[in-house]
Amino acid sequence: MGVYPISDQRDGKERPSCRERKLPRGSGKVDGPGNRTPQEKPHPDATASRKSMDMTVGPEWEHIEIVRRRTRLFLNKYGFSREFIDAITMVGSELVENGIKYGDFGEPEKKLKFKLHILEKNIIVEVIHPTSASATRHLRRLDKTIQWIRGYQDPFQAYVEKLKEVARRPITDSESGLGLVRIAHEGKSILDFFIAEDNALNVSAVAGIEKALWR
Ligand SMILES: Nc1ncnc2c1ncn2[C@@H]1O[C@H](COP(=O)(O)OP(=O)(O)O)[C@@H](O)[C@H]1O
Ligand SMILES: [Mg+2]
Repeated sequence: MGVYPISDQRDGKERPSCRERKLPRGSGKVDGPGNRTPQEKPHPDATASRKSMDMTVGPEWEHIEIVRRRTRLFLNKYGFSREFIDAITMVGSELVENGIKYGDFGEPEKKLKFKLHILEKNIIVEVIHPTSASATRHLRRLDKTIQWIRGYQDPFQAYVEKLKEVARRPITDSESGLGLVRIAHEGKSILDFFIAEDNALNVSAVAGIEKALWR
């Protein structure tokens, strides 16, 4: 799993996963290595080239807020509705949070990449981070969860099932297990992942841009 074409359940059409398409890539970095302080001003190297945006951040929690802010700034330029921007911002922050939680950042040069692409009628959110053998258990769970969500015709049902499961768990359980189902249901996104040759994990969420989502 993680490399086959994804099927968008909303219209039943097969769509290639983002890594099988030619994506426009922003060349720059926001919050480059060593820059670990949350900041409002764009980094001098920041690029939001055409319709894509790249950021490289360290595995610190405060970077989630930077990603959220930068996502909003970027999407605001394209006239999307507030609701859509909120949804995509949530998708980005859930993926980055997972990257920080489950990635392998054992050495200082190991960073997490966050990418946003607007491609025809889709928005693709990608998070790429180093992983290691010790994360195998999590990679299996990632795979299993994505497959499980796909098994539902409507991701809302998966969301409800997950909520019920969470409600049964002890309060002390730190992993809510709601992130991916939120992405599928609230973010109306199709999840996918693959492991690149350098052992980096690439997790993506693809959301369709419907007419109603423009302001
Ligand atoms: N980037 C990732 N790398 C490795 N495993 C992941 C990643 N994202 C998610 N997972 C696995 O999928 C599970 C479900 O993720 P999620 O729905 O976000 O719930 P939570 O983060 O609360 O556990 C995680 O518990 C983890 O085992
Ligand atoms: Mg999570």
